[in-house]
Amino acid sequence: MADSPISHHDGSTEQGDAPSSAATEAPADPSASPEQTAQMEQAYAQMRRKLRISKLDEEIKHKIMVLSGKGGVGKSTVSVGLALSLARSGKKVGLMDIDITGPNIPKMLGLESAELNVEDGQIFPVIGPHGIKVISMAFLLDDPDKPVIWRGPIKLGAITQFIGDVAWGELDTLIIDFPPGTSDEPLTVSQSLPGIDGVVIVTTPQEVALLDSRKSINFAKTISLPCLGVVENMSGYTIRGTAEPNTTISVIGPAGTPIEAQTNETGEWSLTLDIFKSGGGASAAAELDVPFLGALPFDPGVVRGGDDGVHRIIAEPDGATAVAFDEVVKNVLIQIAGSSGPSVRIS
Ligand SMILES: Nc1ncnc2c1ncn2[C@@H]1O[C@H](COP(=O)(O)OP(=O)(O)OP(=O)(O)O)[C@@H](O)[C@H]1O
Ligand SMILES: [Mg+2]
Repeated sequence: MADSPISHHDGSTEQGDAPSSAATEAPADPSASPEQTAQMEQAYAQMRRKLRISKLDEEIKHKIMVLSGKGGVGKSTVSVGLALSLARSGKKVGLMDIDITGPNIPKMLGLESAELNVEDGQIFPVIGPHGIKVISMAFLLDDPDKPVIWRGPIKLGAITQFIGDVAWGELDTLIIDFPPGTSDEPLTVSQSLPGIDGVVIVTTPQEVALLDSRKSINFAKTISLPCLGVVENMSGYTIRGTAEPNTTISVIGPAGTPIEAQTNETGEWSLTLDIFKSGGGASAAAELDVPFLGALPFDPGVVRGGDDGVHRIIAEPDGATAVAFDEVVKNVLIQIAGSSGPSVRIS
């Protein structure tokens, strides 16, 4: 396909998958010019894609979009965490990175050098940790350091093509990570992909991030998708130490004021410092009448893990961050069950 933004790795032109019926196969017409034949093939490829997209509703039980109003609040980290947490509980999970201009999910999962396999016009996802199936625009870029500049319609066309051409197979849940903001991408996906369960909104406790998450909640309403809830990321930072048993110790907190903690009988103490503030996600959720899905701690290991390609859930499966992700997933699943049955509120 001449104007296709996705170039297939095997160098093939777009053919669609093996046609299942004569209705989706471009009829050979010896009198047609090469241009007409190409146009006809393109139209039939589009038809096949539409057919495949309509089947996705049955093949993928749940589809969750992860959004945030503000950039850098941890959407991609949370998307990967939700996918891994679900997968380690035995679910079949897919993860789709829609961030075309800054796709970083492959790096977070240590999959940067992976290549997509394309057969019969279908793109096969790369298999990540715990068997998650990963699709990212990054896999299609020859040079990850070169910025991708696609004008609106081409970018949105690429997303639709992406959705229709991936051979996910049967999945319990597909997690979709987006660039920040309420731009065209989530709108396009919500219009192209059938049966989306809803939107998970990621925020940090700062006022400015919370303000933006309100926009995301309203955006979900505008595109008629349920808001499954708000996740507060980088919530609090826990420090630990030892001192004289059964005494009170004092540390200087982020606001410059002393905070006290009690040591136990073996002298251990721990304190959770609210680096940015605390409880903002829960209060924003309550104020906007959407569920609060939980708080994820500020964890320097998350940054290291993102850079090294080993997510915290993999590096420390029983650590505080992994446990917090499991709690968020539990609440997301309650919301999904609630949206198809009696409503359950967590706040
Ligand atoms: N809970 C956390 N504790 C510490 N660092 C975190 C946490 N969550 C995310 N980070 C770090 O914050 C940075 C931004 O995270 P991430 O890329 O997931 O954000 P994003 O919202 O997807 O960004 P963008 O808007 O650019 O897509 C990364 O360096 C990541 O490692
Ligand atoms: Mg991101």
